[in-house]
Amino acid sequence: MKVLMLNGSHNQDGSTRAGLDEMAKVFSAEGVETEVFTVGGKPVADCIGCGKCAELKRCVFANDAVNEFAEKAKCADGFVFGSPVYYAHPTGRVLSFLDRLFFSSRLANGYANLRHKPAAAIVVARRAGTSACYDVMNKYLGISQMLNVGSTYWNEFHALTKEDVPGDPEGLQTLRNLARNMIYVMKCLKAGRDAGIMPPAAKEEVFTNFVRRGE
Ligand SMILES: Cc1cc2nc3c(=O)[nH]c(=O)nc-3n(C[C@H](O)[C@H](O)[C@H](O)COP(=O)(O)O)c2cc1C
Repeated sequence: MKVLMLNGSHNQDGSTRAGLDEMAKVFSAEGVETEVFTVGGKPVADCIGCGKCAELKRCVFANDAVNEFAEKAKCADGFVFGSPVYYAHPTGRVLSFLDRLFFSSRLANGYANLRHKPAAAIVVARRAGTSACYDVMNKYLGISQMLNVGSTYWNEFHALTKEDVPGDPEGLQTLRNLARNMIYVMKCLKAGRDAGIMPPAAKEEVFTNFVRRGE
């Protein structure tokens, strides 16, 4: 089993990474492989809603890491999406990255490499804005039929720099409990698959805009 973890900070070795590493220790102790995928410091383009992903089966922008992550998602059994809090929301690069990852996954293959897989968002801030940021991150999981795993608190921890991370023991405990819950869900899903229990096929024939024209 493998968990793909997104470090949504430009900072390869900062607080977000420290939180992901805390979870990785738990995964590793239970024989679950992990890979940390760093968004990096280069600009990440916004989604322009061109819809080309439906035809190309990937995002039209090929000069950053979104398509690479989408490719890796095929083999992942679980996901952790991490972001620092910037002005009470995820970083701009995380928003651009996730908009394009999820929109292109929807149009390319109906979220085939994401749906029905356990996932969680984790967020870190010096002081405030964590809940608002966490809410935004969770929206991606809900719309794509991912299985949003919970913990003993919302998945938030506090640090200005990675050196502060040990100073939030409850935040770290939340992350470790989250990893244990994800392992449990991944094992249950595997046992279910082995017993022939497959995910339901969602019905999506209704697509009703709020605005009705000519009525
Ligand atoms: C542009 C910017 C905006 C930030 N906004 C917030 C904020 O709204 N609330 C907060 O508590 N910390 C805020 N921070 C602090 C970061 O969330 C914090 O330093 C975090 O640990 C950085 O994680 P990283 O090392 O993984 O990049 C901000 C930092 C930056 C650079």
